Amino acid sequence: IKTIGILTGGGDCPGLNAVIRAVVKTAHLYDYSVIGIRNGWKGIVEGEVEPLTEFSVTGILPKGGTILGTSRTNPLKSEEQTQQMLSNLKRFGIDAVVAVGGDDTLSVATRLHQMNIPVVGIPKTIDNDLSGTDYTFGFDTAVSIVTDAIDRLHTTAESHHRIMVLEVMGRHAGWIATIAGIAGGADQILIPEVPFDIDDVCEGLKKRRERGKKFSIVVIAEGAKPTDMNNFVTASSKVDEFGHEQLGGIGHLLGRAIEERVGSETRVTVLGHVQRGGSPTAHDRVLATRYGVKAVQQIHEGNYGVMVALHGDKIVPIPLSDAITQKKVDPELYEMARIFY
Ligand code: F6P
Repeated sequence: IKTIGILTGGGDCPGLNAVIRAVVKTAHLYDYSVIGIRNGWKGIVEGEVEPLTEFSVTGILPKGGTILGTSRTNPLKSEEQTQQMLSNLKRFGIDAVVAVGGDDTLSVATRLHQMNIPVVGIPKTIDNDLSGTDYTFGFDTAVSIVTDAIDRLHTTAESHHRIMVLEVMGRHAGWIATIAGIAGGADQILIPEVPFDIDDVCEGLKKRRERGKKFSIVVIAEGAKPTDMNNFVTASSKVDEFGHEQLGGIGHLLGRAIEERVGSETRVTVLGHVQRGGSPTAHDRVLATRYGVKAVQQIHEGNYGVMVALHGDKIVPIPLSDAITQKKVDPELYEMARIFY
């Protein structure tokens, strides 16, 4: 191995630059050169690459996003793109690839490994939904942003005696909602893993009000679903003053359903991409750095087709194929949060 190619694929997240820096610095220690592949797998298909030196990575450790750019391109969907990717790897002299990404990016890495291309994966997503690792980097930063938002919603909710609904990311998993909900002291947490009954949610909020609590915070993951969609949407679909039907995302639907049924003034915040932006927490910087170093060490040892993963307090290689199934929120942890409702 002389040259390592590195790419970041899928949605960006804080800590990607810390990984890139760690890979470049560790690679240079072993005398490998590093080529940065721009915009995920798209860059290798289209031949967009650049050499990365230690000067390219100066000052990027605390920076959010990725200096390489990213995309959700999956070249395996087209035979032509797959061939283009393979021939460009050869053309640029890339002997091994470090792929930093979530399930989609790593599924391409798995396929490359099956085609005998040396590849090592690094788990990345704010959603923390990759099995095989205890935590993905980016998750801790998203959780602290959401926790801060819950803290801020508390003060205004209390002043106005309102119910605040906060919709957070997570795709098909409820990790961000659960962990930030516990950290921020949410009064209800709704996640995809446990479909919610709108009547139960509203009953809980009414009971809280009867106990003298004049405000509530409800955190809902974007992928959460009601047990009975008909009951939920009938209660909450609404036509605005201009005659447009207002649907909105799950957070807005929930806010409307709660306001109608509980009778308390309700406001909805959809946090969106703020959760993925900005500087990584110290925890994510360290985790991303450890992943980057370990990935290059795997290449140095000739251990390909693996993803570096956090197990307890150790970073260990696991087969790439073990990495790409979805990790659900631990039901015990989710149940614990209910103690505080
Ligand atoms: O996977 C990360 C994530 O931020 C999800 O939480 C969210 O559903 C999705 O990406 C948003 O994707 P996009 O940036 O393409 O809108």
